[in-house]
Amino acid sequence: MQIIPALLVQDRETLIERMRLAEGLAECVHIDCMDGIFVPNKTWHNAEALETSLEIELHLMVNDPLSVIREWRRVPQTVRALWHVEVDTDHRQLIEVCRALGWECGLAISPDTSVDTLSPFTELIDEVLVMGVKPGFSGQTVIPATFEKIREIKKRWPALRAGFDGGATKDLIPTLREYDCDRLVMASAIYSANDPRETLHGILNSI
Ligand code: DX5
Ligand code: ZN
Repeated sequence: MQIIPALLVQDRETLIERMRLAEGLAECVHIDCMDGIFVPNKTWHNAEALETSLEIELHLMVNDPLSVIREWRRVPQTVRALWHVEVDTDHRQLIEVCRALGWECGLAISPDTSVDTLSPFTELIDEVLVMGVKPGFSGQTVIPATFEKIREIKKRWPALRAGFDGGATKDLIPTLREYDCDRLVMASAIYSANDPRETLHGILNSI
């Protein structure tokens, strides 16, 4: 299982600082992009030149994913965009735009949404990001009923990767592995620790 540190930040300095803490340990960081409309929170997610060896994936909690994707195409470390299946948008067009950029793409699914909503797109995407909390904030308590979605997705569409995002702790890792989780996104479990780098190191060593 891959561990992906999540960067849910309000300013550029914190983004850079948290990115540095993950460098040399993680392969990829997850930037939480929020517009204050799709979710009741806003983040710093300006597409600016970043000097980092890390891959970047974008978690688009916005009503207009296309405009954010267009901005980030100038950041060469970007490898993947994940937007929400709940957004009223032309998902096929977004998938085509990502493919044209050479990016992977996926759909995130909020706790109250049925996995059936993914059916029209599962042949076209690389990943489903199962949300373990309502999107919007770090540090929430996980909703255990969401775990079963991981198993269901892997059973119905074995070629898809299943990610999990929200409320993850180190102690939850064995459980999520049993549900067949491929990628685990974590923010507060890493960045709220006294020593985030040591904590990330410990998590990576434990898997
Ligand atoms: C929630 C975000 C998550 C969040 C994870 O809306 O999509 O990526 O940053 O934070 P933790 O791991 O603290 O729940
Ligand atoms: Zn996220």
